[in-house]
Amino acid sequence: MRFGHFDDAAREYVIETPRTPYPWINYLGTEEFFGLVSHTGGGYCFYRDARMRRLTRYRYNNVPTDVGGRYYYVHDGGDFWTPGWAPVKRELDSYECRVGLSYTKITGERKGIRTEVLYFVPLGTTAEVHRVTVKNTSKAAKSVKLFSFVEFCLWEASDDQTNYQRNLSIGEVEVDGSTIYHKTEYRERRNHYAVHSVNAKVAGFDTDRESFLGPWNGFAEPQVVAEGKSRNSVASGWSPIGSHQLAVDLAPGEEKTFVFVLGYVENPVAEKWERPGVVNKKPARELLARFQTTAQVDAALVALREYWTEMLSKYTVKSGDERLDRMVNIWNPYQCMVTFNMSRSASYFETGIGRGMGFRDSNQDLLGFVHLIPARARERILDIAATQKPDGSAYHQYQPLTKRGNNDIGSGFNDDPLWLISGTAAYVKESGDFGILKETVPFDNDPKDAAPLFEHLKRSFHHVLHNLGPHGLPLIGRADWNDCLNLNCFSESPGESFQTTGNRTGRTAESVFIAGLFVHVAPDYAALAEAMGFGDEARAAREHAARMEKTVLEHGWDGEWFLRAYDFFGKKIGSKECEDGQILIESQGYCVMAGIGVASGHAKKALDSVQDRLETAHGIVLNQPAYKAYHVELGEISSYPPGYKENAGIFCHNNPWVMIAETVIGRGDRAFALYKKIAPAYREEISEVHRLEPYVYAQMIAGKDAVRHGEAKNSWLTGTAAWNFVAISQHILGVRPELEGLRVNPCIGAGVPSFTIVRKCRGAEYRIAVTNKATGKPARLVVDGKSIDGTLVPYAKAGAVVTIGCET
Ligand code: GLC
Ligand code: GLC
Repeated sequence: MRFGHFDDAAREYVIETPRTPYPWINYLGTEEFFGLVSHTGGGYCFYRDARMRRLTRYRYNNVPTDVGGRYYYVHDGGDFWTPGWAPVKRELDSYECRVGLSYTKITGERKGIRTEVLYFVPLGTTAEVHRVTVKNTSKAAKSVKLFSFVEFCLWEASDDQTNYQRNLSIGEVEVDGSTIYHKTEYRERRNHYAVHSVNAKVAGFDTDRESFLGPWNGFAEPQVVAEGKSRNSVASGWSPIGSHQLAVDLAPGEEKTFVFVLGYVENPVAEKWERPGVVNKKPARELLARFQTTAQVDAALVALREYWTEMLSKYTVKSGDERLDRMVNIWNPYQCMVTFNMSRSASYFETGIGRGMGFRDSNQDLLGFVHLIPARARERILDIAATQKPDGSAYHQYQPLTKRGNNDIGSGFNDDPLWLISGTAAYVKESGDFGILKETVPFDNDPKDAAPLFEHLKRSFHHVLHNLGPHGLPLIGRADWNDCLNLNCFSESPGESFQTTGNRTGRTAESVFIAGLFVHVAPDYAALAEAMGFGDEARAAREHAARMEKTVLEHGWDGEWFLRAYDFFGKKIGSKECEDGQILIESQGYCVMAGIGVASGHAKKALDSVQDRLETAHGIVLNQPAYKAYHVELGEISSYPPGYKENAGIFCHNNPWVMIAETVIGRGDRAFALYKKIAPAYREEISEVHRLEPYVYAQMIAGKDAVRHGEAKNSWLTGTAAWNFVAISQHILGVRPELEGLRVNPCIGAGVPSFTIVRKCRGAEYRIAVTNKATGKPARLVVDGKSIDGTLVPYAKAGAVVTIGCET
């Protein structure tokens, strides 16, 4: 069952009913100012950091789930309603929500009034713009009243939800004509305020929540809206809000458009005040001046569209499979951009007050983002590397505002350092910018201890070699990619962190996954070393990788598949000897991606075992059998009820590793079949089961042991976005930048007989026409009319257009 449809020409998903199974959201903003907006207008916005600079309030864990947002209420002769249906939930004669690239447009109609609200953040702007059009679709003249509404957050979102003894006394605003200034704490240490304005003369306003709602009402029944009359309240403490009232008189067929701006403004300390107690409004006025007319707003929207058109033109496919095309051309890169910007901070599953930027997460997010804006990826790599510790280990997380490593979580996740090599290699391949390897980057943000970026990669690589266990496999530390495989933790107290409560410090627990990751990054690392002129280091790295590969086949192989790990006591994890957790997905995917056991047939066996034991109709589960009981020596993985999250859930992040692995052994039909099982556009038809947005990936789909098999959770902010884009674009469709050229080698199976791809890379454009006979053999290429040997197309000069014929 669907709740909407894709409009590919407009690059929109059109939600046709407000009664979706869950709030379906979108993100506004591309640079510094961001908003989350649901299909009913719920959500909130913030400047740069969802915790430290939150402009509007949002209540997680609310009932119903999605209450609170930037709402517009229509009062029409005693009747009142909201165009997004919620929060008032008065029946609408029509409803539609268009989820676009960095904008959302909600239209509701009731009794001859149609109201359309367009939400977006213009480029280069620290504000949301809401373009609201009210149209009289009836045959009689109408006089309606339009009320805006936002509830201000007192900036620090965590404090805002907890510190009531102070916060209920500090709220302050100023009202100046049609503009409301939210200035809580501006009198002391904050040099920023929020501004909420409309480009029309107001009939009234409110800034005090209780005055607006009435003491006993929620957002569904604001007293002011019901009565059709603002109170002109000026907040003093309690809960400041912003609400404007507009009188809208409309002849039959007439429409009027208003522009609301909700923005963030900063002043230099010396210029905070206009006069004592009155904020300096100059920068706010400059901001508002840019959005006084509908024409200005429409131009900003066109600029935003062009921004996306240009960005998405870096990789496009025409395959004849519209679901594939819309994933690759629109929605997957869009989600990659959002994860790059947000990391794991703010979604409807992440509260914006918890996790900072993850070392491993951010490096992986880069893999799907780097082709969109390589310069921003470069900046990110240098930020991440600057948090690395001198011994090559890494803080697991860092804070986006300070860019400092986070001491609460600390380090010891032994896969972390290697992801820096993957991220950097992806950037150099995309951009050709080997210069980044020579950039001076501090360790642990200490400018006195700095070295070229390449030295950071070297310490990452050698960190593994300095931390090998009894079988010669890498020590796992607190956890590897699977944050929930906590082999040194042994936690017995509720509430304790499974990751950081290490009470065993033995050097015994080893990870076959990290071994696979090590072998996978080694060729890139060696090539970068060579580019730096470190031939000996390159040679040594290749030898280490060859040795590790042998070790994996010797001590990391269980007979039919790769082992996952050895625990603290040296017992196997992911072996047929185990009662539960006999096979885990990660080492199957990554070891084969690394090429381990491909020649010897181990790789094929491992992938066949994945198919036999882990695959379901909704994707590949993480492990089987699911852990039935808590195992203190395994940690959080066994804390989840069977079928959820890391305990046999379908983790969409690691499914693409298996897809890529399948292409490594030439099984394109398998790879593509697995892709289609989890790609949201292919799941649209079962939206009542999947329940989350059909236009973006979720982190997890409940596995076959779960009561709610097939149901997704944690949409949007997940490494799934980057990895699925890498799998489909680079390995299944088969076009990927390498250091010396563009690799063109599709492996998609028989389902897609021909397709074309346009790939822009390093300033040149490659137009690729593929005839796909699904031979499973390397492609044959004709480049600008000449056959070439192999599948690597040398990079052309910037500005060139290269035509490639490909038969496979
Ligand atoms: C979450 C984390 C990621 C981890 C994964 C598996 O997605 O953000 O870092 O690798 O879970 O545990
Ligand atoms: C929990 C989650 C896991 C996530 C981790 C982040 O363990 O289950 O997915 O990676 O928290 O700290």
